[in-house]
This record gives sequence, structure tokens and C-alpha cells, in this order.
Amino acid sequence: MKILNAYCGIGGNRKLWTPNEDEHEIIAVEYNEDIAAVYQDLYPNDIVIIGDAHEYLLRNYKEFDFIWASPPCPTHSRLVDSNQNMFYDRGDMQYPDMKLYQEIILLKSYAPKTTKWVIENVVPYYEYLIKPNVILHRHPLWCNFQLPFKEFEDLRVHMEIEGNTTVYGVSLEKYKIQNKRKRQILRNMVNPELGKYILDRAMEKEIPIQGGLF
Ligand SMILES: C[S@@+](CC[C@H](N)C(=O)[O-])C[C@H]1O[C@@H](n2cnc3c(N)ncnc32)[C@H](O)[C@@H]1O
Repeated sequence: MKILNAYCGIGGNRKLWTPNEDEHEIIAVEYNEDIAAVYQDLYPNDIVIIGDAHEYLLRNYKEFDFIWASPPCPTHSRLVDSNQNMFYDRGDMQYPDMKLYQEIILLKSYAPKTTKWVIENVVPYYEYLIKPNVILHRHPLWCNFQLPFKEFEDLRVHMEIEGNTTVYGVSLEKYKIQNKRKRQILRNMVNPELGKYILDRAMEKEIPIQGGLF
């Protein structure tokens, strides 16, 4: 499968995608150079593009069998509310970043039937503008394939308690990045089990609806 991993971060969602590295061709897009370098180090067989994932998606969405997009979530998060109770260390209030909905609308409307896609974000502080298909492990997910509900264990919390350096088995110890940034980058990771579950569902053959029986 040719896969686009847009807004790839350090690849939490990607971690369990390929026991056999030849199985997929993965193109990952991330605009932060330090983060992209960690991703490339962790997944040397992926093609990493340092650039704007939103623009890349618009130009290339027809080229992929599977698209995962994790557009930035801080401006949607329930943890930023109208009373300015902010979890994120930011100065001014910001408008919700509409890239999320732009991408959902683009893919819902124009993605080829042969392209499976999923967009992942966080539970917002406002009413959804477009309802997600399902919420798994705190992530609302918009997609064009069957994604049945499943419980996921929150392994991340346990790992963070153990000194903050290793989350989902990924350590940033050897990279020259500020410790505070490291924690944030690690916190951004999607649970790899969730990433695998979603890719596995996307790869399942759709059961054709039986016609002419009634
Ligand atoms: C929520 S994190 C992605 C987490 C990733 N899916 C994982 O499981 O590890 C979002 C990432 O998108 C990057 N990013 C934000 N805006 C971007 C843009 N316009 N183009 C490319 N990358 C962007 C951020 O630097 C951040 O690493």
C-alpha cells in the first residue's frame, strides 16, 4: 500500500504499521525539522518530507491507498475553553484551526473510492462541525471505512510516571531537544496500538452489500 502519514510527528500511529518493512511505501510529512529528523531516524525506510502537510495533502491526496492525517489539535482541545483555562502554554487565544475541517471536507468529497483515509484529532470544546465516525482512545476519527469501537489501555500514562523519557517504547534521550519540548513531542504521540488497529481495519476488504435478495 502507498501510505501518506501527514503531520507525522515522531510516528506514534506509525510505530506498529510494518512488521515487514517492505509491505508499505510510506511518505511522512512534518514541518518541524527536529521532529522530522527523529521520525526519519526511527523509520529509515519511510520517505520523510519536511514541509506543510496541509498543502501536501491537497496536492497529492489522489496518489495514496491510505491516508492518515493528524492535523494540529491544540486550538480544538476541550482543555482550551472560553474562560481561557488553557492547558497549553500559549499567550493569546486562537481561533480553532480550520485545517481539520478543510481536510475532512476535501477527503469526504473528492478522495478516490480506492483511497481509505482517516483524520484524527481531539475531543473539541465546541460542538462538532462535522460529526466523527467514532471516538477511539480519546480521539475523534473521521474516516471512510468501518471502524468499530474498541477499548484501548492507556499505557502512555504509566510510562510518563516513569520519568517522562519513554512513551510507548519511544525514547528521545539521545536527541538534542530541550527536555520540555521532548515531553510535549512524546505526549503528541497517538497510541501505536490504535494506529495499528486503524490501518488493519482500512486494509480489510469491504464486505459487498448483497443485492437482489428481496
Ligand atoms: C499531533 S502531532 C502528530 C502525532 C503523530 N500522529 C503521532 O502519532 O506521533 C502533530 C504534528 O504535526 C506537526 N505539524 C503541525 N502543523 C503542520 C503542518 N502544517 N505541516 C506539517 N506538519 C505540521 C507538528 O509539528 C506535530 O509534530
